[in-house]
Amino acid sequence: MTKKHIGVIGTGMMGTDIAHLFLLSGYPVSIYDIDEEKVKRAQEKITSKSKEIKEELLQVTTKIDDLSPCQFIVEAVPENLELKQQVFQELEQVVSPSAILASNTSGISIAKIAAVCEHPERVIGTHFFNPATKMPLVEVISGEHTVSATLEETLYIIEDIGKTPVHTKDVPGFIVNRIVTPMLNEAMHLLENEVSTTEEIDKAIKLAMGHPMGPLQLAEFIGLDTIYHFMEQIYEETKLAQ
Ligand SMILES: NC(=O)c1ccc[n+]([C@@H]2O[C@H](COP(=O)([O-])OP(=O)(O)OC[C@H]3O[C@@H](n4cnc5c(N)ncnc54)[C@H](O)[C@@H]3O)[C@@H](O)[C@H]2O)c1
Repeated sequence: MTKKHIGVIGTGMMGTDIAHLFLLSGYPVSIYDIDEEKVKRAQEKITSKSKEIKEELLQVTTKIDDLSPCQFIVEAVPENLELKQQVFQELEQVVSPSAILASNTSGISIAKIAAVCEHPERVIGTHFFNPATKMPLVEVISGEHTVSATLEETLYIIEDIGKTPVHTKDVPGFIVNRIVTPMLNEAMHLLENEVSTTEEIDKAIKLAMGHPMGPLQLAEFIGLDTIYHFMEQIYEETKLAQ
């Protein structure tokens, strides 16, 4: 099968690594960001890390119109529903109706993003984990209207870049954040109640569960503001205390 032309929207922390991954697997990639500095920095980061990447495979732009030849687009703009909806609406005016539109959202409902689209059947979630070049998992999320052809093509592409997809329904937190967030919260409760120290809590979970990082170290790595945001999102939609 010929490699589809990939588009990546938003060249921050995740978008840069996602673009890098596709390039390493020989896909042509166009990266787009509204911020010229960010898109140039992404280009430098990718090409300096992987000198073997062929220059003609990577296109860099600050104009969304330049994504018109892309057939599989991953959006990685900040975690905000209105912003993502606006980007998807703009994108639909530019790409062909058969292009697949994937969001790297950590927890926003795919159905809500797709609700503003003319073709919601081609909208899907591809949740890469940080750092995307190293972490093997990609959660693939079917929204209410995502059709099986979109899912099958997405699973094929994710495997083709060497990742392991796990398919999930469009529920708050998907699988990983839904399970991990309460664990991090409980670890913080234990620390707050002086049940044990940071080091001992982390050591206990690492040794008991075989996790590479303890929950408190993981919480620092993800960022407490991001975790708080996940908790609020999951609580708002489920009313289950995290
Ligand atoms: N950071 C993580 O650990 C992580 C992990 C998994 C998923 N995610 C998800 O990935 C997405 C991106 O996160 P990030 O950490 O890479 O964010 P980031 O802030 O590092 O990057 C976002 C980029 O989007 C650009 N941008 C903003 N508005 C835009 C627009 N209208 N059009 C084009 N580009 C625009 C910004 O200039 C910036 O370069 C979010 O949905 C986030 O929840 C993040």
